[in-house]
Amino acid sequence: MIFYFSGTGNSKHVADFIAGKTNDTVINMADCVKKMQYDFKLKKGERVGFVYPIYCWSLPSVVEEFAKNLCLEKYGKHYTFSVATCGVATGGADMQLAKILAKRGIGLHATFAVKMVDNYTIAFNVKNASKNEAINIKAEESIKNIAFLINNKTGGYHNHLRGLWPASKATKVVYQLTRKTSPFKVSEDCIGCGLCAKQCPAGAISLDYGKPVWTEKKCALCLSCLHHCPVNAINYGPTTKNHGQYTYTEIKEDK
Ligand SMILES: Cc1cc2nc3c(=O)[nH]c(=O)nc-3n(C[C@H](O)[C@H](O)[C@H](O)COP(=O)(O)O)c2cc1C
Ligand code: SF4
Ligand code: SF4
Repeated sequence: MIFYFSGTGNSKHVADFIAGKTNDTVINMADCVKKMQYDFKLKKGERVGFVYPIYCWSLPSVVEEFAKNLCLEKYGKHYTFSVATCGVATGGADMQLAKILAKRGIGLHATFAVKMVDNYTIAFNVKNASKNEAINIKAEESIKNIAFLINNKTGGYHNHLRGLWPASKATKVVYQLTRKTSPFKVSEDCIGCGLCAKQCPAGAISLDYGKPVWTEKKCALCLSCLHHCPVNAINYGPTTKNHGQYTYTEIKEDK
């Protein structure tokens, strides 16, 4: 059973890739939080994984909420792992997750991280498609290696992207303070397709006469709405408009 959260597809790709190798099922944590579904019954010896993006060196609100409520009915011993996807560094997010899970009676055997395209277009520019592809081609090697280790139930701490992780206590506060919906603005290009509202993991968007409005003051800040809009009509503050949109696209293997 692999639990994942993903705004723009990086973490979903990693979860799907691992599940393809290990024959596990993938479960979207955002759907579970929306339905308040936290009870899961494990099959004998089943693996349990958590795959998620890094937000300000800490856990996305959805992942934190899910992990804090998770109840696993175990069947014998279970190999458990986490994989963080990030653009630069993870900080101490995986340690935060381990702490929360420990309180739920779930110990993590293995911890991994992989560097992929940084979707934080509030600061970064993702317009260069070939640069993005190069980053994700490199990531694919790490993902294959991680999947191999997980398939063999390898234990240990394998995250080499922690950076100055003790600063995570402060950056966690930054995330909590910045995940406001007030900077979201919609341009005249909006065609009223409703995609942003449909896929928002926080249920923070409604359509008002065909145009999105943010009905919650806070959201997960996953930027999924912004990156998935078919006409790039959603902006967050003054920078995102010129920083492009990104969603994970499958890397094609050489024949
Ligand atoms: C609000 C926000 C904050 C982020 N903070 C970090 C960060 O602190 N460090 C980092 O390396 N990447 C950061 N990122 C980038 C994402 O972690 C990275 O692109 C991730 O792979 C996205 O995964 P997803 O496609 O599954 O949503 C941030 C992204 C967002 C939206
Ligand atoms: S996804 Fe874009 S075009 Fe569609 S309703 Fe939302 S803002 Fe408008
Ligand atoms: S409003 Fe946009 S950024 Fe916020 S949780 Fe919903 S999809 Fe993600």
